[in-house]
Order: sequence, then C-alpha cells, then structure tokens
Amino acid sequence: MYRTHHCNELRASHIGITARLAGWVHVRRDHGGVVFIDLRDREGLTQVVFRPEENAEVTEIAHTLRHEDVVEVSGRVAPRIAGTENPKLATGEVELVPSSLRILNRADVLPFPLDSDPSNEDLRLSYRYFDLRRPHLARNLRTRHRVTKATRDYLDEQGFIEIETPILSKSTPEGARDFLVPSRQTPGKFYALPQAPQQYKQLLMVGGVEKYFQIAKCFRDEDLRADRQPEFTQIDIEASFVRPEDIYALVEGMLAAVFREAQGIEIPTPFPLMTWHEAMDQFGSDKPDRRFGMHLIDLADVFAASSFKMFRGALDTGGAVKAINAKNFASVTTGQMEELTTMAKLYGAKGLAFIKVENGKWQSPLVKFFTDEEKAALTSQLDISEGDLVLFAADKWEVVCEVLGRLRLRISEFQKLTAGSTALDFLWVTDFPLLAFDAAENKWNAVHHPFTRPKADDVALIDAGEFGKARAEAYDVVLNGVEIGGGSIRIHEPDLQAKMFAALGVSEADQQTMFGHILRAFRLGAPPHGGIAMGLDRLVMLICGEQSIREVMAFPKNNRGIDLMSQSPSEVDARQLRDLGMKLAGEKPQA
Ligand code: AMO
Ligand code: AMP
Repeated sequence: MYRTHHCNELRASHIGITARLAGWVHVRRDHGGVVFIDLRDREGLTQVVFRPEENAEVTEIAHTLRHEDVVEVSGRVAPRIAGTENPKLATGEVELVPSSLRILNRADVLPFPLDSDPSNEDLRLSYRYFDLRRPHLARNLRTRHRVTKATRDYLDEQGFIEIETPILSKSTPEGARDFLVPSRQTPGKFYALPQAPQQYKQLLMVGGVEKYFQIAKCFRDEDLRADRQPEFTQIDIEASFVRPEDIYALVEGMLAAVFREAQGIEIPTPFPLMTWHEAMDQFGSDKPDRRFGMHLIDLADVFAASSFKMFRGALDTGGAVKAINAKNFASVTTGQMEELTTMAKLYGAKGLAFIKVENGKWQSPLVKFFTDEEKAALTSQLDISEGDLVLFAADKWEVVCEVLGRLRLRISEFQKLTAGSTALDFLWVTDFPLLAFDAAENKWNAVHHPFTRPKADDVALIDAGEFGKARAEAYDVVLNGVEIGGGSIRIHEPDLQAKMFAALGVSEADQQTMFGHILRAFRLGAPPHGGIAMGLDRLVMLICGEQSIREVMAFPKNNRGIDLMSQSPSEVDARQLRDLGMKLAGEKPQA
C-alpha cells in the first residue's frame, strides 16, 4: 500500500495515529537542519517535518529532495507547534513526522514553476503533462467531468440513450473543411472525420431510436480562435416527434442540472427567446451579450431628411443608419479610436462617424450637418450626456448591424463592462435565415446545415426563388455572448430535402453520390425529428470562468493546430505513404 490517507485528509482528530502518504514535493524549505516539505497529491497538501533530532537518517535523505520529486512518507500525525497552524490549509492543524521516506522518482530541472501562471502558452502546451498539475487546470478537468456526468445522468433520466457513431465516416457538409483519412484497402478513396454526427443521428431517428445522445468528438479543419479547436466535443442530441419547444425545455432542464451539479447554483428557466432579426437589429450579433446595454439605436426617422449625404444616401437606397452610445467613453484614446475605425472598415463600413461630448460641447466633424431638431432627437433617442462617445454607421442593414455589433463588443472590452460579472445570461436565438448568399462562390449556402427545415410559412419563398427571405426552424442557445449550442428541426421528407439540395446548387447526380443514403432513408418512413448540439468545451469554459477552451481540454492544440507536446502533425515515412498508394506532391502546400 502506497498510502493510508490522501494529502487533504489529516485533521486534529488524527493526531497520534500513524499515516502513510504519497505524492509530489510541492515545496521544500530548509530551516537550519530542519526540513519542511509540503507534500501534494491531487486532493491537497500536507506538511511533513523532518527534524534531525527525531530521525537523523530520514532527515538526511530529505535534504536531497527537490521540487516535484515523488515520495512516499509514513510517520506520526502530530499537532503543529502552537502559533504555526495554517488556517488556509484544510490540513493546517497537523503535520506528519516521518519515520520513513521512500523516493519513488526524481524530477529533473522543471520547465517552469508550478505556482506561477506562465504567460508563455507554447511552453505550457509543450509540457502539458506537467502543466496539468497546476491546481486550476486540475480543477477544470474535474469540473468537466462533473458536467459530463450530470449531462449523462439527466439525459438518461429523460429516456435518452447514448450511442456511438463512426469516427471514420463520410464527408459531411457542416460548413468547415473536412479532415481526410486515406483508405489503404480502397486506394484513392478517403474517409472523412465527422464535423458532427449530424447524418448518423438523423439516420438513428429513421432507425426508431427516438431519443439519442452522445458526448461526441467532432473534427473541423478551420481557422482556430480562443473558442475553436480542430477537435472538440459536443453534447449531441436528437429526438423524434419533437417541436422546438420540446428541445428548449430539454436543454434548459439539462443546463439547470449541469449548473446545479457542477456549480451548486440554480439558473432561471425558461430562457427568453429572441429572433435572429431582433438580435442583429438591437445587438448587431446573432449571439448577443446582454450583460451590458449600448444597444444599436435605429435613426432612420431622425435622418430621413438629413442634409448629410452619407446618412441620407444610405436611407434613400433602402439601407440603415444606426448608432451606439458608449456612455462615459469620450475619454477614448487616439489608439483605441484608430482600432475602432480599422475594425469598422474591416466589417464593411466606409467610415466611422462619431460625436464626443466634452465640456458641454459635441466634438464631431458631423455637427455642422445636424439641425437643432436632429440634435434634440439624437439626444433623447441615444440618451446622450456629458462624457459620452456616440458612433454611427450608415450602410446596408446587415453591414450597419455587424459593424456596430463588433464595435460594441470591443468597447465593452475597453471599458471592462463585464469584468468581474457573475451574471449568467442565457437566451435562445430563433428564426435564423435558412440560406445565405456567398458572393465569392456565387452560390447559396445553408446557414445551419442542409438538413435544417425551413419554417412552414416560408417554403413558398423557396419555391419563388426568394432564398434570402426564407427563415429556418433553427435555434441557438447563447450564454453571455457565446454560442454554446445550436440545432434545428430537420427535413424528414425526401421531396423537401431534394428541394433544399437544389437551392444549394447540388446537382441531381451529386445528391445521389453524396446524400443517396439520407434520401433513401427518408423514403422508408422517417419520423419528424430535430435536435441540437452543445459545445461542451465552451460550456465548461464559461463554467470555469476561463477565456479559452484550451484551459478546459486535457491536451489541446495551439492556435496553429499543432500539438506541441507530441509534435503532431508530423511527417510519416515513405513506407506508410506507399501502403496508402500516396505520394507527396513535393512542394509545400500554401498556408
Ligand atoms: P454547430 O455547428 O452549431 O451544430 O455546432 C454545435 C456547437 O458546437 C460548438 N462548436 C465548437 N466548439 C469548439 N470548437 C469548434 N471548432 C466548434 N465548432 C462548433 C459550438 C456550437 O454551438 N450538427 C449540428 C447540431 C444540430 O443541428 O443538432 C452542429 O454541429 O458551441
Ligand atoms: P466624409 O464626408 O467622407 O469626410 O465623412 C464624414 C464622417 O462620416 C467621417 O467621420 C467618416 O468616417 C464618416 N462616414 C463616412 N461614411 C460613413 C458611413 N457610411 N457610415 C458612418 N460614417 C461614415
């Protein structure tokens, strides 16, 4: 037996017993011959004291200990000397006075100290197995476990069964690039790693499963960000004979269970609903962060007869003029203002008009264009007062919303509007557009995926070729401005599915080669069905109060998609390629 207790277990009531502990040397201090170590295991710390007068032999060995050596100690549990108790430590009343010390393994020079937060993430990821010893990462992994456990328990209670679906699967059109796996047995052909189990879960509904879930690994070859990884995990759900309201209630119950089990808090349900159009119009985002105001205010009525060309022109051509008021931000620095202007242009604005209210005056290149009535209307609609910064956008409605939505978020970072907030703002965003036009490719793409059902009222719009106006029976669940899940009611009729593929420009022949199995399945009695997938990593990130999903994954890739620890991806030897019937083109593909 390596141990009788763990390192967070011994209390005053254990004084006098013999205990054996095993773990890592967290800290070692030498005090004139006396050696103190804080012994650490995953549960916590216990102080171990080696005094030469009590056990010279063991104390001598203790002098050779270094941080992170792995040891086993056994000895007497003793009270700490009066006045040296540590109330911050659960085991702070006692110490272990060892009669034996066994060094189980030595640690080399450490890559970085464990008690600091190294800012060099690449270094941390290169030594991830070491990094994971830091208490906050250890806590995150446990929280993640609690979340998946609560999820499984809840869904099980609701009658859902967990079913694994293939990882070696067929290319699915979820919107990102596929990771491909060459097939040795069928040279020239490839499996694709699933971007999501979307088609399989729908086929399980055709298979009569009715209530499916899976904690599912998904793979997407896309540009990475703080909340995106090439492989990530979904809580994937599908059910038959459901309407959106059934999915909302299921997910609300699941999240309530998760927050109760993992955090000990009750979240208010049901969550409010907001249409996609409202979200874009008021917040300039399909995942609005409502923890602060700074709403997008529509100014069409103020500027309908404006003498300012930019505003009037946008309105006359069917566009929009909107503004946000960043309260108390007239103090914006030149650098910040430049960044906001660059950002506005990046998202399609032609310029960034502003008003700063300083010393009772509107400082702005625009003021000369405004009549007194326009000024009065702006003051009341935007609630303008001393110290405010107002930013305007005039363009197509989509551009105006996107630009101001982005500025709103960046300003909230500048002003630290959500710093320290413990608010949990959940909401459903509904009624997404079904299709979006991709000007670069000159074709229509599914906003969600091609299996998403159009709203019943909007099927006629598809027939009429008015693709941009059709709405989808799709919904996202948003927490504090992060999309934590998305789903939809699906198409279950072969004819409607074929109509959707046609709108997406998938030829009859391609429909058969790419989706023949789905279309055939729909001809064998497919029940109406729908579902959702939650981004498990994002959910745990928010629960843990982290800024990046890498902090809640055991072995994440860095932002270039590289596993720095194992140096993957890596080259393979010529023989492996030969087995696959493959040859490298010789030149490096373009980044
Ligand atoms: P969707 O593509 O919206 O839907 O994905 C569902 C949720 O998964 C999370 N997510 C990610 N998390 C980390 N890294 C990524 N690269 C990443 N991409 C997505 C998000 C997102 O809300 N099959 C559909 C679901 C359905 O219709 O039922 C799907 O995958 O939190
Ligand atoms: P100009 O007349 O081009 O000098 O523009 C006057 C101000 O309006 C400048 O601050 C521009 O950045 C801004 N501006 C120009 N076009 C737009 C637009 N479409 N939306 C918002 N502001 C604009």
